[in-house]
Amino acid sequence: MPKLIVVDRSGAEKTVDADAGLSVMEAIRDNGFDELLALCGGCCSCATCHVYVDPAFADKISPMSEDESDLLDSSDHRNETSRLSCQVQLTDALEGLRVTIAPED
Ligand code: FES
Repeated sequence: MPKLIVVDRSGAEKTVDADAGLSVMEAIRDNGFDELLALCGGCCSCATCHVYVDPAFADKISPMSEDESDLLDSSDHRNETSRLSCQVQLTDALEGLRVTIAPED
């Protein structure tokens, strides 16, 4: 069960246990972070699950699809570490992954 470190918009950090196989979005939502809206429920169509991923894990997370990249382009807050958290699957290799919830668009 990988541990996930979540930094909210106030900068507060919380470590949560998450099941491998869940998406990062599901793990964040299931642990009570209500600022991650995830309005589309994980279908890669809303961009309200935008997070910044610790660059140390860049080569361990699933690659970004073209659809995800197009959707992230709609955000004013995209940077080189941006991902849609519903599109990142948790695996044991991601133990200690640190994600920061991006500002609201
Ligand atoms: S939850 Fe809508 S794009 Fe991720």
